[in-house]
Amino acid sequence: MASCATSSPAIPRHLAIIMDGNGRWAERRHRPRIVGHRAGARAVNLCIDFCILKGIQALTLFAFSSENWGRPEGEVGALMKLFMNALEREVDELDRRDVRIRFIGERERFSPAIVARMQAAELQTAANDGLQLSIAASYGGRWDITQAARALAADVAAGRLRVEDIDEDALTRRLTLADLPPPDLFIRTGGEMRISNFLLWHLAYTELWFTEALWPELDAATLQGALDHYASRERRFGLTGAQLAPLQESTE
Ligand code: FPP
Repeated sequence: MASCATSSPAIPRHLAIIMDGNGRWAERRHRPRIVGHRAGARAVNLCIDFCILKGIQALTLFAFSSENWGRPEGEVGALMKLFMNALEREVDELDRRDVRIRFIGERERFSPAIVARMQAAELQTAANDGLQLSIAASYGGRWDITQAARALAADVAAGRLRVEDIDEDALTRRLTLADLPPPDLFIRTGGEMRISNFLLWHLAYTELWFTEALWPELDAATLQGALDHYASRERRFGLTGAQLAPLQESTE
């Protein structure tokens, strides 16, 4: 994970989103929850278009949490079908637009057919250097930190790493998304103000923005509102404003 710059460019390099509110959107229309998820998939496309247009380098979307496996069987099954269809339908077009796709999370929990499609999408788009799109699926921030800790332990056990060399960088390098800068901006739709086990480590200094809009209601104006908020923030990364001023002048 690249280190943080002290100045805040107007456009975030990395945007991370919790796409919440699909179920409520459908329930308000007296429709099954899966109708909300389908509408949510359309909002994903809008969001990707927006990021490409704005020159955002990386977009990470929370599509399915470790805890979402506990939802009613019918909803989980319908979501799996939706993921399969979206992969089938969208990957060629995303590839054509130079988008690199990857999946983060415990993929062993998905069916072999979905895992195969995930791998195929990653392979097909691996060389693309446009938008870096990461889909967090069967993902939890605690799982991510745990698997990084396990990798550290394995390296120590194998004699590749000394315990005294374990530091924040060593752990960061073993997390998912280690090659991307940490998210500059986090957005959550749907009105809840919590992180819900998303990128717990990565969000340490991320600017947070919440909206009441439900995910299927997403439009470019809402996303622009989040970017405007971001551009107005002074990011101090634990320093004082006075300390940052000369650093910012030197990067202008
Ligand atoms: C949270 O809303 C949303 C999900 C658990 C699923 C997200 C899936 C999509 C946006 C569709 C497809 C995505 C991809 C990447 C193809 P919720 O169901 O918790 O809503 P609620 O809080 O209103 O119940």
